[in-house]
Amino acid sequence: MGQRDWQGGEGVVKVLGAMAMAAAMAGVAGQILGLSPLPDLLQKNGKKKKKVRVYMDGCFDMMHYGHANALRQARALGDELVVGVVSDEEIKANKGPPVMSMDERVVMVKSVKWVDEVIEDAPYEINEEFMNKLFTDHKIDYIIHGDDPCLLPDGSDAYAHAKKAGRYKQIKRTEGVSSTDIVGRMLLCVRDRPNETPVHASLQRQFSHGHSDKGSSAGAGTRVSHFLPTSRRIVQFSNGKGPRPDARIVYMDGAFDLFHAGHVETLKAAKAMGDFLLVGIHSDQIVSAHRGPNHPIMHVHERSLSVLACRYVDEVIIGAPWEVSKDMVRLCFIT
Ligand code: CTP
Repeated sequence: MGQRDWQGGEGVVKVLGAMAMAAAMAGVAGQILGLSPLPDLLQKNGKKKKKVRVYMDGCFDMMHYGHANALRQARALGDELVVGVVSDEEIKANKGPPVMSMDERVVMVKSVKWVDEVIEDAPYEINEEFMNKLFTDHKIDYIIHGDDPCLLPDGSDAYAHAKKAGRYKQIKRTEGVSSTDIVGRMLLCVRDRPNETPVHASLQRQFSHGHSDKGSSAGAGTRVSHFLPTSRRIVQFSNGKGPRPDARIVYMDGAFDLFHAGHVETLKAAKAMGDFLLVGIHSDQIVSAHRGPNHPIMHVHERSLSVLACRYVDEVIIGAPWEVSKDMVRLCFIT
């Protein structure tokens, strides 16, 4: 097989074995995804051990692998991770309007493999009333946030009550990526295209307040990624498991640039066609050749981490070729 059999939103979907094909459309969806509960933890004496439940909140706007890495670290501090997705109104009041709607942001957070439960329309500030609700109704043990200051418009700390109660824990913010940095890269894509000035102006307005450029030293407008793709980071995001010998392996390839709710729905549909989903992330050169010199916005390692964090994905090829062959996929699983 030398030719690509189907080409669409994110490329080719193949169920190997039957070699059936399907094209899952990458339309934005507001559907809420079901999450499977974790098995109860048992102590050595057979009695149930209380699960440690941790809470992390955030806007998760234009969700990127820095957000996914925050959720990974938060989950590692407990047994179950509950995530509060801040409401559109609260984001608007505290940071400026979000780019993605509540429904889109919820789909993105629920798709992350380290997330167990989601609370929608969470408040921006953990006030005393909401904190007590977390402790009593949601059985939360600790409230977690990245090590960047999270200030309210009056300059006070949004996590002051949790800190005072001794129930606050901190994770390390991921350097090299932020929503502001991504918007900066997008603006550079339209800068040389005078016809698209309104898009540029609108994005600039949305990110002119509230979003400080915490992840990039170069500020909005940089096209240079500050992400360092270490093998450790890739291992942290990996499932570390190959397919069972009798597994139906589904292969899907694409750019997966600016990973969004449509990609999540596509990957969910692809996974439903088999037992093991292998995703080929096209190299930056391939994406540029097919979509133009300003693409991709996120480089191949960044795109790979976003896809790896998705609960429907079992394995990725970092820099997949354009042409798909059955042998290429089989080679991935030779030990
Ligand atoms: N976070 C992180 N690393 C990043 C970006 C965010 O660890 N590069 C963490 C934040 O510290 C927070 C959680 O992800 O605990 C959710 O962040 P969010 O509320 O979405 O907003 P920001 O911190 O403003 O993220 P960004 O600047 O990318 O919009």
